[in-house]
Amino acid sequence: MEVLAISGTPRPGGNTELLIEAALEPFKEKSWEVTRFLLSTRTVAPCDGCDICLQTDECVIRDDMDLLYEKFASCDAIIIASPVYYRNVSAQLKAVFDRHHALVRSKPLTGKPGGAIVVGGGTNGGQSLALMIIYNFFLSAGALAVPGARNGVSVVADKPGDVLAQPDRLKQARILGENVLKYATLLRSDQ
Ligand SMILES: Cc1cc2nc3c(=O)[nH]c(=O)nc-3n(C[C@H](O)[C@H](O)[C@H](O)COP(=O)(O)O)c2cc1C
Repeated sequence: MEVLAISGTPRPGGNTELLIEAALEPFKEKSWEVTRFLLSTRTVAPCDGCDICLQTDECVIRDDMDLLYEKFASCDAIIIASPVYYRNVSAQLKAVFDRHHALVRSKPLTGKPGGAIVVGGGTNGGQSLALMIIYNFFLSAGALAVPGARNGVSVVADKPGDVLAQPDRLKQARILGENVLKYATLLRSDQ
């Protein structure tokens, strides 16, 4: 079983990446294959709207998105985390969402459980909006949005590493991971 974790921050070691690690703990404990796709180390260009993919089911742009096209198909569960940028997800993550357009007919994430994590520097900084953007991606891709302890994981932290002083939020990220793992296992055993 394989979990795919996508981090939307361009900042290496940022709060988003730390929260992803907390969400991945339960998967590592169960010896799942873990694939991290960190947009601090990967480059995904924006969709250029050529729509050639609607005929070919393939994107004409060659970059790190190639790996994600493979992993969307092979994974059994997905975790997506983003910093809040202007009350939205980061542009780096939005490019990933738009480039999923090439898979709009095959929809390889169909029926797979997904968890969402967002972190913004301000209280009421747009975390809820960013969560909704990720949930809407899940719905567009045919994936299932799985709740954490309450909803998605919504965090207030600004400087890199600030979230480490918030064990309750790291715990919430872990609970989200546990829930996604639980649904993925249930869905697999049903096949
Ligand atoms: C371009 C930019 C836009 C931002 N916009 C928001 C925002 O709208 N709301 C908010 O709460 N924080 C905002 N922030 C703060 C980041 O969300 C915050 O620093 C977060 O911890 C970054 O996550 P990271 O450590 O994973 O990079 C913004 C930061 C940047 C660089």
